[in-house]
Amino acid sequence: MKKKWWHDKVAYQIYPKSFMDANGDGIGDLRGIISKLDYLKDLGIDIIWLSPVYQSPFVDQGYDISDYYKIAEEFGTMQEFDVLLAETKKRGMYVLMDLVINHCSDQHEWFQKALQNPYGKYAGYFYFVKGRDGKEPSNYRSYFGGSAWDPVPGTDLYYLHMFSKEQPDLNWENPELRKEIYQMINWWMEKGLAGFRIDAIINIKKDLSFPSYEPDGLDGRASCVKMVEDVQGVGEYLEDIKHHTFDQYDAFTVAEVFNMKDDELSEFIGEDGHFSSMFDFSAHILGQGENGWYDNKKPSFQAWRDTIFESQLELQRIGHVANIIENHDEPRGASRFLPEHAKNEAGKKMLATTSILLYGIPFIYQGQEIGMTNCRRKDISEYDDISTKDQYQEAIAAGCSVEQAMEYCFEYSRDNARTPMQWNDAVGAGFTQGKPWLALNPNYTDINVEEQEKREDSVLSYYKKLLALKKAPEYKETFTYGRFVPDYQKEDSVFAYHRICRENGGQDILVAANYGTKAVTLKMKSLSGKVLLSNMGKEEERGREIFSEGTLTLESCEAAVILL
Ligand code: GLC
Ligand code: CA
Repeated sequence: MKKKWWHDKVAYQIYPKSFMDANGDGIGDLRGIISKLDYLKDLGIDIIWLSPVYQSPFVDQGYDISDYYKIAEEFGTMQEFDVLLAETKKRGMYVLMDLVINHCSDQHEWFQKALQNPYGKYAGYFYFVKGRDGKEPSNYRSYFGGSAWDPVPGTDLYYLHMFSKEQPDLNWENPELRKEIYQMINWWMEKGLAGFRIDAIINIKKDLSFPSYEPDGLDGRASCVKMVEDVQGVGEYLEDIKHHTFDQYDAFTVAEVFNMKDDELSEFIGEDGHFSSMFDFSAHILGQGENGWYDNKKPSFQAWRDTIFESQLELQRIGHVANIIENHDEPRGASRFLPEHAKNEAGKKMLATTSILLYGIPFIYQGQEIGMTNCRRKDISEYDDISTKDQYQEAIAAGCSVEQAMEYCFEYSRDNARTPMQWNDAVGAGFTQGKPWLALNPNYTDINVEEQEKREDSVLSYYKKLLALKKAPEYKETFTYGRFVPDYQKEDSVFAYHRICRENGGQDILVAANYGTKAVTLKMKSLSGKVLLSNMGKEEERGREIFSEGTLTLESCEAAVILL
């Protein structure tokens, strides 16, 4: 594998609206982010991914862009953005923007002009399609519920939107549109970005015949995903984008890809693939129901572990994957992946250990490093997220009680990850002097940065140690390029793997954790090893305790990183 500048880096996702509010209006902003760069540097972060900061009506929290060349007023100014870039450079850090080009906002000038002249140039930037028999062109359900088609007023045309009706899909068949997007990407790259996280990218390819599918829900519609899964040829667009933009800057690109075809992996992230990397969502889609949240099945520990293992084994042969525990669309990992008895600091450190040292580049989501959790709400009106509202209604329509539907929101809502960052235990959690745009998780009085910074044994302090270990000169090569080899898979509660690096003198590092309720004893190939990191602290002491005559004993919720 050709070595790249980003292979050994650690990334951090900022959800700007909820990270840090500098001016007291309750909304996070760029100046807030700038004020926390030292915090991120100190944590061990190299790359920052900013969820969208472009001008937007925020129907889908910035994933509906009304001007690609402007910073949202709520977040600040372009000048402040430039300061942010300069300040990250000073600290040897990199910035990725979010690239949302499958769709824009209905408030974008292009769409407004298209509505004014539904047969003119700008209509060609979108999918304006004639209805069939006085109805929508096809029976697609959008991701956020309802039809994926809405009428173009005063015509018999409909426009396509796979997400909300305020997010019309852009027509990638149109060379003029493509050119505009490439110019925009290059304009941002010229500013000095390191690259992009790329939103919903395989959705850009459509089957222009827009076939209807067998209905798959109570509403008589079929998920628009069916078309995405069926249609061929997205690769041509992806190569074209890369060729006209990223390639010219050695940019780091990480794609959000769902519903990929099996044989596409190497085209996507292999040598000279369309992208530098892509997120591994295999553990996140596990147990996902056909009909939405009420239909989800909770995977067992073994299924979860084995899914990650399988994915690692496949991906490491092909390219450098990006690993996450959570992001702005997913519930908090500490609430989701830890068994009940492990929903504590030891458990959170264990989850960090087994995830961060996997093969690939870790993306830490804001608040994960202090172990932020899902947040319970009393009523659906307390949620902001567009998809949560839809999923709630879906559950009710399917016959769930209000209590059940609320429970699904508690488990799966995207707002779980979007509550403001918990900096301290003051009113506003140190996030804002004003009223936060989305209510805080009340546990900020217990879980917050300030408290954890004071404590050697906090989750935050552990994250720092873990990232420092991953980057330590003696082990860096192994953690970056070392082969991933699963171990002890027959043990029902153990999550263990090796990272073995031929280029680093055959260095073999064992990452082992016990997610069970009872201690486990594992046979080792060697008599003992050196404990590089333990979530129980005091590595040397722990090292003397856990090995005995070629065995390794891990207590419940214990994780250890061991040099063999
Ligand atoms: C991606 C984003 C999500 C957004 C959607 C539409 O999945 O991560 O937040 O709602 O795309 O842009
Ligand atoms: Ca603000």
